[in-house]
Amino acid sequence: MTRKLFVTTALPYANANFHIGHIMEYTQADVWVRFQRMRGQEVHFVCADDAHGAPIMIAAEKAGITPQQFVANIAAGRKSYLDGFHISFDNWHSTDGPENHELSQDVYRALRSNELIGVKTIEQFFDPEKSMFLPDRFIKGECPKCGAKDQYGDSCEVCGAVYTPTDLKNPFSVLTGATPVMKSSEHYFFKLSDPRCIAFLEEWTQTPGRLQPEVFNKIKEWFAKDEEGNGGLGDWDISRDAPYFGIEIPDAPGKYFYVWLDAPIGYLASLKNYFNKTGRDFDAFFADESVEQVHFIGKDITYFHTLFWPAMLHFSGRKTPDHVFVHGFMTVNNGEKMSKSRGTGLDPMKYLGLGLNAEWLRYYIAAKLNAKVEDIDFNPEDFVARINSDLVGKYINIASRAAGFLSKRFDGHLSGDLGVEGRSLLDALRAQAEVIAELYEEREFGKALRETMLLADKVNEYVDQNKPWELAKKEGMEAVLHDVCSVCIEAFRLLTIYLKPVLPALAAKVETFLRVEPLQFADAARAMGPHQIGAYEHLMQRVDAMMVEALFEAPPAPKVVPGGEDIAPEIKIDDFSKVDLRIAKIVKAEHVEGSDKLLRLTLDAGEGRLRNVFSGIKSAYQPEQLEGKLTVMVANLAPRKMKFGISEGMVLAASHADEKTNPGIFVLEPFPGAQPGMRVR
Ligand code: MSP
Ligand code: ZN
Repeated sequence: MTRKLFVTTALPYANANFHIGHIMEYTQADVWVRFQRMRGQEVHFVCADDAHGAPIMIAAEKAGITPQQFVANIAAGRKSYLDGFHISFDNWHSTDGPENHELSQDVYRALRSNELIGVKTIEQFFDPEKSMFLPDRFIKGECPKCGAKDQYGDSCEVCGAVYTPTDLKNPFSVLTGATPVMKSSEHYFFKLSDPRCIAFLEEWTQTPGRLQPEVFNKIKEWFAKDEEGNGGLGDWDISRDAPYFGIEIPDAPGKYFYVWLDAPIGYLASLKNYFNKTGRDFDAFFADESVEQVHFIGKDITYFHTLFWPAMLHFSGRKTPDHVFVHGFMTVNNGEKMSKSRGTGLDPMKYLGLGLNAEWLRYYIAAKLNAKVEDIDFNPEDFVARINSDLVGKYINIASRAAGFLSKRFDGHLSGDLGVEGRSLLDALRAQAEVIAELYEEREFGKALRETMLLADKVNEYVDQNKPWELAKKEGMEAVLHDVCSVCIEAFRLLTIYLKPVLPALAAKVETFLRVEPLQFADAARAMGPHQIGAYEHLMQRVDAMMVEALFEAPPAPKVVPGGEDIAPEIKIDDFSKVDLRIAKIVKAEHVEGSDKLLRLTLDAGEGRLRNVFSGIKSAYQPEQLEGKLTVMVANLAPRKMKFGISEGMVLAASHADEKTNPGIFVLEPFPGAQPGMRVR
C-alpha cells in the first residue's frame, strides 16, 4: 500500500533570511521526504513564511514599507537558499495568504461553538505615544533582581532571572522610549484547562510512536501541577489588540489572532494552496484517515506543536498530526549558540557563494543527525575529514578506480558473470538495503550513512585484493578485469541508491553516467545486468580546507558600505564646505498630482521666505508623517525646473544602492534642539 504523507517543516518568521539552523531543519526533512519518494510513497512536502506578529509589523514600519511588502521581500529571497541546498518542497506559501485567513477563522469558530473560547480582561503595558500594547520584548527596564539596566521584559541577560514586564524597574518602551502605562483590554482565550482538552491531550501525547520518548517526558512536566495545585495546562491567550499584523478575529472588532494561533494553521493553508493550484481536493485529502501528517520542528517550539496545535485541530473537528519529529539545535564551532534571528558563524549564502558544494553540507548534517533531540555541531576540521575521507575517499573513488578500464577496454559494457567473489560482495551490499531503509525511516541518518560507508569499505577491500591496475597489465586476465570492474560499478550503483536521499544532485550525475532511470530504493534488489554505461566524468571534488577557512573569515573592512555602494573618491574639506546644508522645518507636505514618486514639501530654513522642494520620498512617507518635522536641506543647490514646478533645494535621505531589491527611504532628522536655518557642517 502506498503511504500518503503530508510533511512540513516549521514556518520560518518572515523577518530575516535563513540561517544555518533553518538549513539544518530543511535538510533533515528533505532527506526523509526524498527517501519516502524513493520508496514510492505519495508525499506532499510544504512550507510557508510565518508572516504575522508585532516584530514584523514594527520592522516593516521602520523600513518604511507595508508589512505585506516587507514579507514579500523576504519571501523573494527564499528560493536561492532552497534551490541552492536542493530542498524539495512542493509548495512555499505565506500565513498571510487568503487560505490561512479563512482556515484560521474556521478553526476559531469551531472552537467557539465547542465552548472552548473564553474572554477575560487583562492588564498590560501600553505605549501611550504609540497607542499600542507592548509585547514583552518591546519593554525594557532595570532587572528587579540584580538591577542591571536595559533588560528585556521577560528575562535578565545578566543574572538570568525570569519575570513579567510589570516587575521591571523604570520600564520604558523600546519603540518610543515612553514610560508604559497599565491599560486593560479584553483578551480571548483557548480554554486548554477544560477537562476535555486535558483528557484529549493526555491520550494524544501518550499514543505510542507519535512522539519521541524525551519529548513525551518533557510534556509530562508541563502537565504536572505542584503541591499547591499550580501549574499544569493554563488557558492560552490567543488575541492581540490592534495595531497588529495578523488575522482578524470574527465578531471581535479590533482584535487579531496571536501569531501562534494562525502559524500552524499555515501548514494546512500551504497544502490547500498547493492542491488548489494542482487541481486536487484538499478537503477530501485532509479528511482521509490514511493520510499521515508529519511535522519536523526544532525543540524550542515543542509546546506549540504538541499541545496547542493538536488541541486546535481536534476540537475543530480535524485530524491531528501523526508525528511531530523534534530535532535539537545546530551550533557552529563548538556550541557557539546561534542567535535565533541572525545566526552566526556559518552563513548559508556565503557557503554557496564561495562555491562550496551544497551536498557536502547535506552529507555532513545528515551524518550527524539521529532520531533524538540532540544538538549537533559544525566543526570545520571534522567537516573536511568526513567529506574527503568518507564521501570522496571511500565512495567516489570506487567509480573512478573502475570506470576508466571499463570504457577503455570494454567500451563501457558490463560483464554478465561477475565471478563468485564479486557476486557474494554484491549480495552482501544488497542484504543491507532494508536495514538502511529502516534507518532512514527512523531518521537515524547518521547510522544509515555509517552502514553505507562500511559497505564502501568492503568494496574498497575487494578492489585492493583484486588490483584491477595489475590485472590490466597481465595477459589473459581480460575477463577477470572485466568482472572486477563491473562488480565495482554495480556496487557503486547500490551505494548511490543508499546515498541518494542525502545527495540527490550527485545521484542524478551518477544516473547519467550509468545510463539508468532515476534510482528508486527497490532498484537495489535488481542487478543492472548486461548494460553499457557512459563515460566517467568527475563526480565530486575534495573539500579545500582553505575554502572552509574563508567561510569563517570576517568580511573585509568595509570599502563597500552596507548599502552596497562604493565610497566616493576623496574630497577636501573645502569641497565639502561648498555644500550649504541647513536645518529646515517641513511646514507642509502634499501629494503631487500625476507623480507616483514625489511629494511637494514647503520648507522653512529661517530665511524669511518659504521654499518649494520636490522630493522622491512618496513611497516611504505619508505627508502627515512629515509635517512639522525638522530635516536637513541642501540650500545652495541651483533651482531645478521640473514637470510639476521649480524645486528650490533638496532634502537629505538615506537609502540602499539598489532600491528595487532593498527598499526603504529614511529622511534625516536632527537631534532635538536644532533650529531652522542652522548650518550643518
Ligand atoms: N515561526 C516560528 C515557527 C512557526 S511553525 C507553525 C519559528 N520560526 S523560526 O524562524 O524562529 O524557526 C524556524 C525553525 O528553525 C524552528 O523549527 C526552529 O526550531 C528552527 N531553528 C532555529 N534555530 C535553529 C538552530 N540553530 N538549529 C536548528 N534549528 C533551529 O519558530
Ligand atoms: Zn538581573
